[in-house]
Amino acid sequence: MDLYNYNIKSPFIKNHLLSLEDYTADEIYQLISLALKLKEKKKKGIPHPILKGKTLGMIFAKSSTRTRVSFEVGIHQLGGYGLFLSSADIQLGRGETIEDTAKVLSRYVDGIMIRTFDQEDVEALAKYGSIPVINGLTDLFHPCQILADLMTIYEAKARLKGLKLAYIGDGNNVAHSLLIGCSKVGMDVAIACPNGYEPQEEIVSQAQDNGLSSGSQISIVQDPKKAATGADVIYTDVWTSMGQEDEIQDRKKVFEPYQVNSRLFFLASPDAIFLHCLPAHRGEEVTREIIDGSKSWVFEEAENRLHVQKAIMTLLMGDNKSLEF
Ligand code: CP
Ligand code: NVA
Repeated sequence: MDLYNYNIKSPFIKNHLLSLEDYTADEIYQLISLALKLKEKKKKGIPHPILKGKTLGMIFAKSSTRTRVSFEVGIHQLGGYGLFLSSADIQLGRGETIEDTAKVLSRYVDGIMIRTFDQEDVEALAKYGSIPVINGLTDLFHPCQILADLMTIYEAKARLKGLKLAYIGDGNNVAHSLLIGCSKVGMDVAIACPNGYEPQEEIVSQAQDNGLSSGSQISIVQDPKKAATGADVIYTDVWTSMGQEDEIQDRKKVFEPYQVNSRLFFLASPDAIFLHCLPAHRGEEVTREIIDGSKSWVFEEAENRLHVQKAIMTLLMGDNKSLEF
């Protein structure tokens, strides 16, 4: 399958991006394909003001470097405007309801990106508003990240189906979205995490169900060596996610055997690549020689956040003319 020349259907049928579980493999391929096209346009310096005059409201209840900058720069490159809304500064942070916030923002802006704690809040915004809602990370999911990861894997390997991704670490939001996203496109996922830090059972079952049709195999193990063996992609994330700061000392102890280092990486396929959503803590979940070494694609991965966000905004907020490339 050639994602550089994939058929992107117009109009795109989705209204929101809340979880990749709502997307088919075909819709994921369309998003990645558009991101690859937009990346090429950007590299060649060809302007592409596809969302001229559109405004994206960006609500942040947690910190961000990549998500904030890639959405804000992305909407600007598409000819639109990005409005940063810290939840500490808007009335949402003082108790205004999600329902009212959704109804009011729908009167001003053309789409909302939200980074927050509860997945239910993102779903409520979509339910009560009348404009597209994009999940920029919750405690449960991080779908935009995984689209950029799949794009990066495709650039590195020229395929997705049949590859094995090993995720070493916490069964968190990134692990959840990797389970869903990879199982949609037929990649095998092996997750190694300590007892008590596994991904949610319901999400593992969803991934296994997806695997019944896509062919992907899902395994959750405790031994990082078992997960890493023969992997095409080794992935890790921080041991302590945003909102878990009071567990940091305990987590450092529990996760110590789960560091991605040369010994572990040696077990992967000889041409395996390393990915990390970033921010990274060198010396904790990954060693310097891995994240700063020749197998690491983390900065390409971070750049791809920009191209993927532009594809997401174009397909969700654009009109039919948007795709005339
Ligand atoms: N990977 C990611 O989402 O990074 P930020 O927290 O900096 O947005
Ligand atoms: N799991 C991390 C991802 C950061 C992009 C967190 O939620 O903090």
